[in-house]
Amino acid sequence: MYNHFKLSQKFLYYYLTASNGKGHGVHSPFVFDFINNVLLDKKEYDCYHSVEERRKFLLSNKELIAVEDFGAGSSLTPSNSRRVNAIARSSVKSKKYGQLLFRMIQYYQPAVLLELGTSLGITSAYLSLGNPSAKLFTCEGAGSVAAIAQKNFDSMRLNNIAIIVGDFSKTLPSLLSNLKQIDFAFVDGNHRKASTIDYFQQLLDHSKSTSIFVLDDIHWSSEMEEAWSYIQHHPAVTLTIDLFFIGIVFVNPDYKVKQHFKIRF
Ligand SMILES: C[S@@+](CC[C@H](N)C(=O)[O-])C[C@H]1O[C@@H](n2cnc3c(N)ncnc32)[C@H](O)[C@@H]1O
Repeated sequence: MYNHFKLSQKFLYYYLTASNGKGHGVHSPFVFDFINNVLLDKKEYDCYHSVEERRKFLLSNKELIAVEDFGAGSSLTPSNSRRVNAIARSSVKSKKYGQLLFRMIQYYQPAVLLELGTSLGITSAYLSLGNPSAKLFTCEGAGSVAAIAQKNFDSMRLNNIAIIVGDFSKTLPSLLSNLKQIDFAFVDGNHRKASTIDYFQQLLDHSKSTSIFVLDDIHWSSEMEEAWSYIQHHPAVTLTIDLFFIGIVFVNPDYKVKQHFKIRF
């Protein structure tokens, strides 16, 4: 993982070299449409309030739970205790990105959604609410954390989510073999190069032309930057959008020319 100084430098470089996020000079009708109808959609959707209320509740929960630490890699280290509010502060995606993912689901209406890394289920809630008639499968290794996520889903009455507990290396292949196709995936756990590429390849094998994959923390470490570069250059990938803290991947062969965009967000 890069230290704070290095990450800030990288962010500054991204900020100065990314297109301004208003769609000017973006020579892709699809990306222009994405910027104007998804990225820049400033409407306050009703569900934002209920998810953020739940986040607030978790941020005030000082309960200590035993958590299996999967770290960046998947080698299970002995259980350690963490407070729920500390997990809510450090592991959960901010509302800016959760709400962007909600808008992506709402706009593109994918039907089969997958999240790798549930944590407390805050981003899962945004994904689920984007298309209540979709089915969201969310995978989490730490059973105690998954149990809290399930309580959150119950309290928000989100009935379209299934949590799969276990190490991704075991749960992902069996889940994918049952699902056949994934329309949208958010990969937010285990930030190792080899694992990220492996998850991407598995998702690709179960994709269709309109599938969308979102990868978290693509500039978090040199390993993640290498994985992101590998994915960008993969022959099946036709379009990528780098928003610094997340990367978006499209595999639609209708986009004849491979294009990579870096957009300020
Ligand atoms: C960054 S958090 C996910 C945050 C969540 N997507 C959100 O925004 O609310 C990553 C989660 O992935 C889980 N995780 C990491 N590596 C894993 C693995 N190899 N197998 C299963 N779970 C794993 C961790 O336990 C952690 O809860």
